[in-house]
Amino acid sequence: MTDLTANDDLEALRTQLLERVAQATDESALEQVRVETLGKKGVITLRMASLGQVAPELRREVGQANNALKNAISEAIALRQTALAGAARTAKLAAERVDVTLPAAPEAEGHVHPISQTIEEITQIFAEMGFTVAEGPEIESDFNNFAALNIPPEHPARQMHDTFYLPPGADGAARVLRTHTSPVQVRTMLNSKPPIRIIAPGRTYRSDYDMTHTPMFHQVEGLVIDESTHMGHLRGCLTEFLRAFFQIDDLPLRFRPSFFPFTEPSAEVDIGCSRKGGQLKLGNHGDWLEILGCGMVHPKVLDMCGIDSTRYQGFAFGMGIERIAMLKYGIPDLRTFFDADLRWLRHHGFSFLDQPSLGLGLTR
Ligand code: PHE
Repeated sequence: MTDLTANDDLEALRTQLLERVAQATDESALEQVRVETLGKKGVITLRMASLGQVAPELRREVGQANNALKNAISEAIALRQTALAGAARTAKLAAERVDVTLPAAPEAEGHVHPISQTIEEITQIFAEMGFTVAEGPEIESDFNNFAALNIPPEHPARQMHDTFYLPPGADGAARVLRTHTSPVQVRTMLNSKPPIRIIAPGRTYRSDYDMTHTPMFHQVEGLVIDESTHMGHLRGCLTEFLRAFFQIDDLPLRFRPSFFPFTEPSAEVDIGCSRKGGQLKLGNHGDWLEILGCGMVHPKVLDMCGIDSTRYQGFAFGMGIERIAMLKYGIPDLRTFFDADLRWLRHHGFSFLDQPSLGLGLTR
């Protein structure tokens, strides 16, 4: 570089500096050019500072020329600055572009709990049969949990439920943690008109704790009411469901007479299994395993829930979700569902991208 402070060819200096500005490829290179020209020790600054050494008769002319040079370079730098900043923003936006149409990347951590997965599977199967999902609160009135289900105050069935009783609500009515999902039957019948076809999965509570009991567990309730539903429909519906859920085409079902205050007749359903060598295996192997309770809704219950029992009838069933999840997925101890042990969750949990494993069609 020539000695730019010399008062020589100003035009050459101007061309040279403008070229340097144009050649700055990014904002930091441009800043470098600015420091070297307009900074404290920049060529233009130094030229202006040395004006005193110029012959007095030339000072005015040289001074004006310096100012013009300074303005031209400042302006060129400002323009270049705007262009470079714009280009930098465009490049940044291009680099940060997100393709929202790409599929979600699977997370390394986090699984769907087997209970959630099982509820999804149950819901999917019943949805294909035309059921919708109903819900109710876990804190229930004594009426919905017991009385409306034909379980009056001194009825022995209350003892069997190991109920958690709560202080009465604001209206003075007795309250409990629901001991089964059957109060959702009551709510549904009170709030809608037949035909009714619902399932109600959810949490239930009983004061009990051992290998096969936890104070909180899950049930799924089913309720079908219309003018002509009979026990054959109940049998067909549960057969279809259990075969699809366990994915065993020829899974045998056995309906054993039983008793529930809210159904008449009532039955308990067993499914086929084998226990050879201490190993439980589901299927057509000659042995039986109890799996759920069901029956035709008791006329008294229909009447208490505002449904004309001379015109309508239907069936109900209830089963433990942990129990069928344990059988399907080979989980031996009920309590482990609620231990929140990360190793257990990693082993038994499901990827959230897993579809619930089946529809009805897959078993045929
Ligand atoms: N509610 C019953 C229980 O918890 C199960 C059941 C539901 C039985 C519906 C019949 C009909 O044991």
